[in-house]
Amino acid sequence: MNTPICKIADIIYVRFELVELEAQKKYLNHFGMMLAHEDENSIYFRGTGSSPFIYVATKGPENKYIGSAYKANNFSDLEALSKEFDVDIVANTEPGGGHKVTVIDPDGIEVEVCHGMNEAEPIAVVSKVLNTGQSKQRENELQRFGKAADEWQVHGDKWVYELSSKVKRLGHTAINCKDAQASVDWYANVLGFLISNNCIGPDGTSMGAFMRCDQGDKPVDHHTMNNMGLPGEGGALAYGHAGYEVQDSIDDLMAGHYHMKTVDEYYHEWGIGRHLLGSQMYDYWRDPHGFTHEHWTDGDLMDASIPTENSGFRDLAMAQYGPEVPNTFGITMPIDQIDKARAAHPTIPGMIKEMEKAAKAETEEQS
Ligand SMILES: [Fe+2]
Repeated sequence: MNTPICKIADIIYVRFELVELEAQKKYLNHFGMMLAHEDENSIYFRGTGSSPFIYVATKGPENKYIGSAYKANNFSDLEALSKEFDVDIVANTEPGGGHKVTVIDPDGIEVEVCHGMNEAEPIAVVSKVLNTGQSKQRENELQRFGKAADEWQVHGDKWVYELSSKVKRLGHTAINCKDAQASVDWYANVLGFLISNNCIGPDGTSMGAFMRCDQGDKPVDHHTMNNMGLPGEGGALAYGHAGYEVQDSIDDLMAGHYHMKTVDEYYHEWGIGRHLLGSQMYDYWRDPHGFTHEHWTDGDLMDASIPTENSGFRDLAMAQYGPEVPNTFGITMPIDQIDKARAAHPTIPGMIKEMEKAAKAETEEQS
């Protein structure tokens, strides 16, 4: 592999353009983020972690995903990108300041690489101690979340569980690529990403990858980027989802699920389950514009020494446990089209079942 232009440290935020911002503000509050800053045209939301913001949307003529921002360890990384792509290093005028360069990936997604951004003061959240069958760490202390049963309140004529998740940070994005291999190569060569899992499609060729940051012997998230060759022609369709780590653990994710469910205003895309590739517990919710956002917790961490693994379509789609993956998963579309799209196409587990049946029949025929 070529020496990459730089090796970015982590993802910081996702950037969207939206026709109107009020509904999105409401959604992000329910989702468990906090408004960090807003001006006439933009909203900036943060988590409890140290990033000044993890989500930004600016008012514009379309609802679309613009791109993602990444953290560079050194100013020299910005200089290397600036030289390679012939783009300027600019002072960042948004919260956190510092400098950045913006380059465009093969699918037209803006990739901002930032250095020198001021960190925000993390918001303290008390971690809960869990007792398991094997290990009893909590004694003489009752397990309570938020206001306990008083989190249930009547809103109008329905019960709403008021405690939302507490989003800590943005952990990754998943994108649909016109050419998955070109995207994987680009993120490896430009940002230094390593391939955690090479995803092998039904026809035996690569349909994309889960990629992580190369920080040497420092363990990082199993994936900061998931590039897949799914249907999509760029623009809004290039966006698969953004995955945000919750501050605490499983209960933080579960609380958010029941909050979103009982608020009853948003489309539940998939979950709750436990992925195989990356191992996170996951829960996916569409925002009012059809963009999918994920709560996740307890993901795998790995350093640069772990080799790439080849993983089949089953590993990608079936998860370790959880509900069936919907056939709309990873595809951005208006909310009012989702049910129709789901009904019009075969289910993914159904497709895998047929593929495996056909492969078995072929093997039996040959023997
Ligand atoms: Fe994800």
